[in-house]
Amino acid sequence: MKRSLKNKLMIGAAGVMTLIALQGCKDSSKPNIEVIQDMMESPAIKPQEYDEESPNHSGMRVPPEGTQPVGFIPYKYAKDVAGAARNQNPMAGDMSEDSLKVGLKYYQTNCAVCHGSKGEGGEKMPVGEKMALKPPSLYSAKITGWTDGQIYHVITMGQGVMGPYASHIPQKYRWQVVNYVRHLQKESK
Ligand code: HEC
Repeated sequence: MKRSLKNKLMIGAAGVMTLIALQGCKDSSKPNIEVIQDMMESPAIKPQEYDEESPNHSGMRVPPEGTQPVGFIPYKYAKDVAGAARNQNPMAGDMSEDSLKVGLKYYQTNCAVCHGSKGEGGEKMPVGEKMALKPPSLYSAKITGWTDGQIYHVITMGQGVMGPYASHIPQKYRWQVVNYVRHLQKESK
């Protein structure tokens, strides 16, 4: 009698163990039930998390002053508009399909809502029409006569009520946006 009770208990225990083990393979689209939760609590700080230890109490660290990411070239004409006009376009005249595709992508994402998808100006564009100062045409005589450097400067630093787009358009693609504006100017003729 005694023995068979022990056997029953062992079978029962084995059954419970099997059930727990099977939880793992029940349905892979749902998180498993974790019996021992040690690994769930990671000491890593999430990007937006409050952090008691850091000087600004943010999980995200501010880069040390004066540092810059690898490959970043500081814009040396930030306060020198006359110099910006002489800034040479390293991709001047590149109207290859691949390059224009990149320009188109960034133009449509960042500029078209205001300046129009063909650069015609913002009178009828969703954002442009709401602005007191309507975003001007990018194929006006004025902008057609500008140097590539001047267009690059406005994208990087903004102008008047137009904000800067330096953080929206990575440095390496900004000249392609300039070339795309040139392409729109040609198309408008
Ligand atoms: C939120 C609307 C808005 C967006 C988005 C915008 N612009 Fe502008 N842009 C303006 C306005 C308004 C002006 C006129 C600003 C002024 O002179 O005070 C302007 C001016 C300019 C000028 C100078 C035009 C002139 O006649 O003086 C250029 C060039 C230009 N933008 C290019 C761009 C490019 C390229 C992009 C995309 C990277 C862009 N803009 C995104 C609203 C916008």
